[in-house]
Order: sequence, then structure tokens, then C-alpha cells
Amino acid sequence: MTEDGILGGKNREVVLGAKGLDAPLKDGSSAYFNYFWLRDNCPSSFDSQTRERVFDIFHAAQEPAAESARIVGDALEIVWRADGHVTRHDLEWLASYGKGATRADPADLPRRLWHADHYAAMARFSQPALVADAALVAKWIEAMLVEGVAILEDMPDSDEGLTQTAKLIGHVRPTFFGEYFDVKTHINPTNLAYTAKALELHTDTPAEDMAPGVQFLHCRANSVAGGESLFLDGAAVAADLRRERPDDFALLTQTEIPYYCEHDAYDVRSRQRVIELDRHGEVCGVTISQHMADVFDLPQRFLDDYYPAFRRFGRMMQSDKYLMRFRLRAGECIVFDNHRIVHGRASYTAESGDRHLRGCYTDRGEMRSAYRVLTGKGRFA
Ligand SMILES: [Fe+2]
Repeated sequence: MTEDGILGGKNREVVLGAKGLDAPLKDGSSAYFNYFWLRDNCPSSFDSQTRERVFDIFHAAQEPAAESARIVGDALEIVWRADGHVTRHDLEWLASYGKGATRADPADLPRRLWHADHYAAMARFSQPALVADAALVAKWIEAMLVEGVAILEDMPDSDEGLTQTAKLIGHVRPTFFGEYFDVKTHINPTNLAYTAKALELHTDTPAEDMAPGVQFLHCRANSVAGGESLFLDGAAVAADLRRERPDDFALLTQTEIPYYCEHDAYDVRSRQRVIELDRHGEVCGVTISQHMADVFDLPQRFLDDYYPAFRRFGRMMQSDKYLMRFRLRAGECIVFDNHRIVHGRASYTAESGDRHLRGCYTDRGEMRSAYRVLTGKGRFA
């Protein structure tokens, strides 16, 4: 190659326009790039130590425009009109943004939907092994991203054991109940979970603006009669609803309904869609809680359609096709995506033994961050 812009007979000229330029790429194609974007993302815009952007386009006196530009080796070199600053962009890096495609995300893994028979196949990890091996933590997070649930075994029988485990994938994220909760029978219960009654299928604290992403339930004791854990993949049920009842699906994905949690010292309210879609339009989760659904303040004639759809979806979730029933054992901790996995509990006999689950939450975004760090090279590597 020569510096005059000829490579393998292909034209390597950069064509300057009014708002951007057309640059020849290494595969022989060319792509258009906007001047603001090229200047804003000059490698010199990023501090090598903090890795944050230090160039501030708001401080530029003029809109950026190229005085000249050419291909030098594997880079596009631009001299800027305003101040003579020189930007060099790697051509391969440019190509990855040339078509306007969303940046690839290692944590954006396709979900694998599961049904009632998932228990035997559920991802299992030994907690001490996770503490010792970051590669195993990546496998655990992968299971959380793909299947939304995993069981951790050999948990230390201590409060600190749960904290240590949660910190492997994030920070403990408080809700209006505090940082941790203990599910056992209470004398003056403020929540159905603190009684021995059956706990209907639900996702946790939908009354919060942003319901917690990942839930940990550490089983410290479980010797009661009854009290089986009930879990299902809300995304699997919603995917079936989409096929079988598209009108119901549309109502449940488009309508925000009110949720509440109110007692003497709090009055928490939010509006949520029962079925959530991700940026690909795929079902990513559900928000269900009959005990925290507020009085639907929607037009009564709209409810003529909404309520039947809502009820049909709720009844689908009770089907044996989806519902995984099992007994959580002392020393196990089930970890699940609180926006996707719906959970509940069969009733138990309070006097028949001890039952104690200690729980907390972490954030899904922080879990994805941990996965990228553990599996990817990173932009600044
Ligand atoms: Fe719950």
C-alpha cells in the first residue's frame, strides 16, 4: 500500500462532505461517518486512567468539520478545521460502527425457556467453589441470563454467607423492607410471606419504581410439613400466550396497571406492565402479584377486555405445564431473576418444625456488568 490512497487497485480516497465524510474500509466497502461523532470519539477524548470521556463537545466553539482526511496505514487520519487537532481512528473500529448497528454485548444472551420438568436440569453450583473461582461465577451468571434461575449449594449457615454470595455478582440492593428479609412466621405479620399460609405466585415488590432484579433466598432451615417452593418461567408462559392469544398478549404488554404496598409507615405505588418486552421485542419477564395489585383505576369498559386477559394469563401460570415444585433444603440458596421467574410457596404447618429463609436482592444491570468483566476483553484492554 502507498500513502497516496491506493490499495490493491481499490480507491482509498476519503470524500469530505458538509456534515461528514465517506471513508473506505478495509473490506473494500466505504461508510459514512458524521463529523461530530468522529471528533467526539477521537481516541484523545478518553482519559487513559479514568477511561472517561474528557473531551466535551458542548465546549466546542464551532461545529466540527474536517479540513482534510486521508487513509494512513490502518487508520483514518483527520485534521480538524477549527484547531488543527489530528484524530486517528482505527479502520476496524470504524467498521464496527459504520452501519449503525448496536454495539455487541456479551451479556445479551438468548433466553432458554423452561417448563415444569426443569428441576433436574437446573444449574447448580457449590458456594465455596464460586468464592474460589471467578470462572464459575461467570457460568452462574450465564445460567441466570439464559434460564433466570440457579441453585447454590453448601451455603455457610450464617447471615454473612448470604452477603458474601450476593457480593460475587453485585451489591445488596435494599427495598422498602430493608437490605435483608427473613421469611418465617411472625407474630404480627405485615406480609403474607410471614405467615404459614400458601403464598400465591408472584414477583417481589412490584410496587417499587424499579422492582429488584435478582433475588436470593437462602434456606437456613426447612423441617416443616409442607411449604414446597413453587417456581415457573414467566417468559415461557408469556411466550405461549403470545402464540395462543395474541390479543391478550397485546393488552398485557401495553397496559400499565397499578401496584401498591401500604402499611402504617409506607405507601409505595407504581405502575407496571404485566408482560415486559426487551429491546428485541422478545418477552423478557413478567410482573405478577395478586397481593400487591392495586384497585385497577382504568376505564371500566376497557376492563371488560383487560380482566379476562389478565385472568387467563394468571390461570395459565397455575398449569402443571409450567409449575416446578420442589423442596428447598437447608444449605441451599435459590437465586433468580425477579423480573422473569414467578415464585410462590405451598402452605405449611407452622408447629411441625422450623422454616427459615433469609433473602436479599441485587441488581440485574450490575450482574450483567460482572459477566462482561469476567468474559469480555473490554474496550480499553
Ligand atoms: Fe416473594
